[in-house]
Amino acid sequence: MGTWRGLRAAFIVGSLFMILMIIVYWDDVGGFSLYPLRDTQHVQVHPGPAGSLAAPGSVQQQQQQQQQQPPSTRSSPGPRPGGPLSPLADSKDGSPFHSPAEPGSEKPPHEDRHGGDERTGDEPGQEDKGRGQEERKQRIMDVCSGKTSGDFPGRTRAFEQIPNRELDHLIVDDTHQIIYCYVPKVACTNWKRVMVVLSQSLVSPSSGKPYTEPQDIPADVVHNNSIHLTFAKFWRHYGSLSRHLMALKLQHYTKFIFVRDPFVRLISAYRNKFESANENFYRQFGSVMLRRYGNATGDVPESAADAFAAGVRPSFQQFITYLLDADTEKEAVFNEHWRQIYRLCHPCQVQYDFVGHLETLEADSKQLLRMLGVDQWIHFPTGARNRTASSWKRDWFSHIPIAEREALYKLYQPDFELFGYPKPERDL
Ligand SMILES: *[C@@H]1O[C@H](CO)[C@@H](O)[C@H](O)[C@H]1NC(C)=O
Ligand SMILES: *[C@@H]1O[C@H](CO)[C@@H](O)[C@H](O)[C@H]1NC(C)=O
Ligand SMILES: *[C@@H]1O[C@H](CO)[C@@H](O)[C@H](O)[C@H]1NC(C)=O
Repeated sequence: MGTWRGLRAAFIVGSLFMILMIIVYWDDVGGFSLYPLRDTQHVQVHPGPAGSLAAPGSVQQQQQQQQQQPPSTRSSPGPRPGGPLSPLADSKDGSPFHSPAEPGSEKPPHEDRHGGDERTGDEPGQEDKGRGQEERKQRIMDVCSGKTSGDFPGRTRAFEQIPNRELDHLIVDDTHQIIYCYVPKVACTNWKRVMVVLSQSLVSPSSGKPYTEPQDIPADVVHNNSIHLTFAKFWRHYGSLSRHLMALKLQHYTKFIFVRDPFVRLISAYRNKFESANENFYRQFGSVMLRRYGNATGDVPESAADAFAAGVRPSFQQFITYLLDADTEKEAVFNEHWRQIYRLCHPCQVQYDFVGHLETLEADSKQLLRMLGVDQWIHFPTGARNRTASSWKRDWFSHIPIAEREALYKLYQPDFELFGYPKPERDL
């Protein structure tokens, strides 16, 4: 009797272990996904980056693929991603992480997500000046190592120390093995569209097939986070395996990000959220700014509609004051539209293979799509929109007192330094 029970228990444990192995390996090569929203029936095979169609668990394929990646993704100091199951798939010669370290000191959670309505604000592609990817990546490494500039929160922590809620901007496409960290106000609508087309994850209601043209996807749909597979959702899908899977994907997938001059991004955020009657943003932020920093003795209008009808709206100065107010982040972490890029995308923990600049969007997107091996069939949408141009910085910030501009620079200094944007002049 005792033996029988023992055998039965051993059988069950063994079976469970095998199932786990299968999940890990299948998912690692992207041939199979547990993500429920993916419409696998319609997946057509597109030419993807090397290795995307590797057989499950093929170590050889993985090695080949790794050799094809830029050298910077292969060698980096630091510990390997730990985790109870790490022996299952050896992380070989590299880890996507920088040096180990001190406990993270990020701000509390409390993310407020708003329906997307990000239609304006992207910079026109300027001249294609010095687009050295190696230079951009080297700069990030230097800043992260502390060699070239000061410290900032979370600089030296390990990837494993980043809480799940801070990983909600990393979108994963298993089909082509791509990870995109989206930064609001940096062409993220269009890159999200591209990610949707790449992953074939959304069926167009009109054709009944997955979207193949990025610009066909409505902006409000593409900003609905439920259609994207992000790292923050891994816990829900893969439970205790999630950290291990993230480490594997960070190591093998091509990771990209687009950035922008931090001050110009703020102008863009202000224009987009407060220059028109946006109820969500008015109620949650605009009315707060008016109440706290406005000189109005009377009441602040309840709704954006009322406020705009009365010609009342928060000024850019009030927006800046709000950002600089120490109480703001005590109440809730910065909204993603003005949160620092280093806090959204963790460039010291995620080694991006491609760092695009909005200022050179056209050239950079061409280069990226070529690098991803999808430029034959996918085109980055170019929209004629009322974009915020870098040259507007002078107009907008010249009315902000110098002391406040200095404080604002301090607040966004890591972004300026990591991504190579020069400190704004005193006399803008
Ligand atoms: C987002 O999409 C989900 C399902 O696809 C839907 O249930 C939800 O209502 C959408 N949310 C918004 C804000 O449109
Ligand atoms: C108060 O605000 C109004 C308009 O918002 C402005 O015209 C006026 O100069 C302000 N008063 C002071 C004392 O700042
Ligand atoms: C573009 O935006 C600026 C500033 O927000 C505004 O003054 C201008 O009228 C807009 N132009 C168009 C064509 O919408």
